[in-house]
Amino acid sequence: MQYRRMPIEVESPEQLGYDTIKYNLSESSVSDLFLKDLGKLDDNILLCYGDHYGLVDLRKKIAKDEGIKDINHVLITPGAIGALFFINTSLLGKGDHVIVMHPNYATNFETPRAIGCEISYLKVEPSKDFLDKEFIENNVKENTQLISITSPHNPTGRVLSETDIEWLLNFTQERNIFLLVDETYREIPFGEQSKSLLALRSSHVISVTSVSKAYGLPGLRIGWLVCQNNKIMENFLAAKEQIVLCNSVIDEQLALNALVQKSHLLKNVEQHLETNFQLLKEWLDTEDRVETNLPQGGCVCLVKIKKKIETAKFYELLLKQYSTYVGPGHWFEVSDDYFRLGFGWPTKEELKKGLQNISMALNHF
Ligand SMILES: Cc1ncc(COP(=O)(O)O)c(C=O)c1O
Repeated sequence: MQYRRMPIEVESPEQLGYDTIKYNLSESSVSDLFLKDLGKLDDNILLCYGDHYGLVDLRKKIAKDEGIKDINHVLITPGAIGALFFINTSLLGKGDHVIVMHPNYATNFETPRAIGCEISYLKVEPSKDFLDKEFIENNVKENTQLISITSPHNPTGRVLSETDIEWLLNFTQERNIFLLVDETYREIPFGEQSKSLLALRSSHVISVTSVSKAYGLPGLRIGWLVCQNNKIMENFLAAKEQIVLCNSVIDEQLALNALVQKSHLLKNVEQHLETNFQLLKEWLDTEDRVETNLPQGGCVCLVKIKKKIETAKFYELLLKQYSTYVGPGHWFEVSDDYFRLGFGWPTKEELKKGLQNISMALNHF
């Protein structure tokens, strides 16, 4: 494995220091919760090694909510990122071919790169259909092991249509190719969402999600993968056992506490997102120096600065003078003429001011 640090992580707000940013429009989740929001923790939790698949009650809750028949088809992981790592390192070896969406949350292509895979990048272009089926048809090879899709998509907020889902399921099944679907944004109560995890449709599909984005609990580091294929689930479990063995039993209990209050927590998020999405639309209507495709799901979108400007200076000014932070294009390996804007994390006042600040910073160019 050849590791390298990903720019999105090097420049992440938490590494920069949250206290250095007043208007944080760079996040891809909803507002973070406090420990106290999750209710009391039982003092009697035994700090033993936990179940290697993950806390049984947590998996039962996930299985019940999602309509999963066997709780061993759910593997709790250290965040969605851990799930992506277990899947990629279990299914792929050096020289294997993988088709992966690009731009994307960087781990989705960095881990296949670190393994030494041959990679075809399935481009997400603003002016084209979200899923470029022709590209997939033309680039699939004998050694294609995996197709890796993210929906709702980071950083564009685009969502796979039902027709595209059907097509992908059939295409991969007919060719014996695993389909990884990063569904980390699926539960965010905004826009279009697929009703069930795609892994429930066929045993060659693996779904990944977590409590980080929809619940605002990235500090718990709890995610899960779902797959109905017992054989590869055992590989994923073996990967987990070699790397972390089990999750923190405290984090698992807290994640369960959150899922028990799911309807209440997601209702709050839904109201917040509705308000903030309106603010975003109003700003886009009046700010003609930028353009974007409105997000169909999740809580981010990719905004284009229409005029050619010195982008490095723009982002520096935006942060230093206006204390406002967005995710520049290079986090996703696209031009810095684009930036990711997260509208779910800031309060409505912060979002309003942050958007105004982007306009003010553009006035300098
Ligand atoms: C599409 C996508 N997948 C996975 C992750 C990782 O999430 P987690 O915090 O659950 O590890 C992220 C985080 O930004 C993401 O955007």
